[in-house]
Amino acid sequence: MTAQLNPRGDVAVLVPAAGAGVRLGPGAPKALRLLAGEPLLVHAVRRIAAAPSVHTIVVAAPATEVEAVRAMLAPVAPVTVVPGGAERQESVAAALAAVPAGPEIVLVHDAARALTPPHLVESVAAAVRDGHDAVIPVLPVVDTIKEVDATERVLGTVDRSALRAVQTPQGFRRSALIAAHRSAGDALTDDAGLIEKQGGAVMCVPGSELALKITRPFDMALAERLLTTGA
Ligand code: CTP
Ligand code: MG
Repeated sequence: MTAQLNPRGDVAVLVPAAGAGVRLGPGAPKALRLLAGEPLLVHAVRRIAAAPSVHTIVVAAPATEVEAVRAMLAPVAPVTVVPGGAERQESVAAALAAVPAGPEIVLVHDAARALTPPHLVESVAAAVRDGHDAVIPVLPVVDTIKEVDATERVLGTVDRSALRAVQTPQGFRRSALIAAHRSAGDALTDDAGLIEKQGGAVMCVPGSELALKITRPFDMALAERLLTTGA
């Protein structure tokens, strides 16, 4: 059944999904690979659409797959699909340009974080609504972290209590994200990083284990297992 989005919602969610998925090994673009019989992108969009504040979803698809992605998502939720770019940041910029007038909160979410629960979408959006221009969901770092030199010799141990692992969706006041993208120079910086570079404040909220980024075959196996336990 096609989900209804909220016409009075104040949130647009951009879903960059144009990556190849090189680290998953040979196969279709990552967002189109099957997890428990459905493409990762379908899992991701279904969960975004279940978040009550969401007004608009814009997906940046692999350029050759735009029509296929439109057809694939039509039964899931009303979405706008645009062609993505060669770098993630270009895909985000293309999706951002397609957001209609209305939503003043824009979330940027990876299709690869396919099991992200709707409540995380809501908590990131709520923190932007509360007045933060840029909000990121984070988890504490559990491993001991060492800094090494080029020969793998340990230089020291980093104090992990001050470190956070960053997830998506990252949330922004729309005007702040537009300004950050306008002046973006470094394609490797994440969306919140663009705000940091301009001296803007970025606020953390608690992330979710379920928002893991499916990157390698092990993550696919883990996600499949999580689905059988109700994720
Ligand atoms: N992405 C995108 N456009 C790109 C590159 C990445 O829209 N040119 C998206 C991916 O589809 C993914 C998200 O950005 O949903 C995070 O990227 P990543 O996990 O690195 O996915 P891929 O780039 O597909 O994977 P890999 O780096 O292993 O090729
Ligand atoms: Mg990538």
